[in-house]
Amino acid sequence: MMVWSDLAGLEHMVNKQSVLTSSEAQTYYDRFGKKQDSQGFYEDPALDDLIAHACFRDAQRIFEFGCGTGKFAARLLAEHLPPSASYLGCDISPVMVGLAAQRLEAYPERAKVLRSDGTAHFPLPDRSIDRVISNYVLDLLSEGDIRAVFAEAHRVLTPGGKLCLASLTRGINLPSRIVSSLWMAVFRMRPSLVGGCRPIRLDAYVDRDRWQLEHRRVLIPFGVPSEVLVLNARGTPNPQGLRRPERPREIPCS
Ligand SMILES: C[S@@+](CC[C@H](N)C(=O)[O-])C[C@H]1O[C@@H](n2cnc3c(N)ncnc32)[C@H](O)[C@@H]1O
Repeated sequence: MMVWSDLAGLEHMVNKQSVLTSSEAQTYYDRFGKKQDSQGFYEDPALDDLIAHACFRDAQRIFEFGCGTGKFAARLLAEHLPPSASYLGCDISPVMVGLAAQRLEAYPERAKVLRSDGTAHFPLPDRSIDRVISNYVLDLLSEGDIRAVFAEAHRVLTPGGKLCLASLTRGINLPSRIVSSLWMAVFRMRPSLVGGCRPIRLDAYVDRDRWQLEHRRVLIPFGVPSEVLVLNARGTPNPQGLRRPERPREIPCS
């Protein structure tokens, strides 16, 4: 009989072998386009939680990796960012870039959207950004690319800046474990049936010498588990190489 630890092993195999290539992801999301906004039934509670913990009202320079249709950016600009804040989004899909640019037309001075090349490179100078966001994108990427996104986020964030993530994740109770196992099984058969996304553990990628864990929560609307992480960039690596405390520490917005 298969047990949960076997499923975790399967996840590792999946992560290693069968994510969509960047050109397959581009083709898929070019076709998917506006339909991405219909995923709100399981994404919105996680995004609400991210907004509640990422102190966007203190942010000035925001970068989003994999901005999709620009729905989250529009919400931030309309309701959560100060009027002086600027936003840069990127996406591999030209259709998504077009949809996001159209959606953000009301903010010509403050919001820009670029097409990215499929790598995890962020087109930004070191220490130039105070929020890096990526929602439901890392769960599409290979382990190596996920690590590269964390490294790039650390490079571009100012010390104390925040990396704000939401992703599909593994279940934490029986119903959500069943859902995530079924999701994984479908992904293994044909990744494009689930948009190339599979449940991952974001917190497994966090290097505690580079990041302080401010907030982590798993939400399971309709049985679909999502992980929310807010991490604070540490300025310099810990010279002794000591592990930092693992418990999230809630830091209130100023
Ligand atoms: C599941 S959608 C999520 C979109 C948006 N963040 C949201 O929450 O609605 C994944 C998005 O990531 C983009 N994407 C996939 N691979 C990418 C890559 N390597 N670089 C940049 N964007 C990528 C896709 O084009 C798509 O818009």
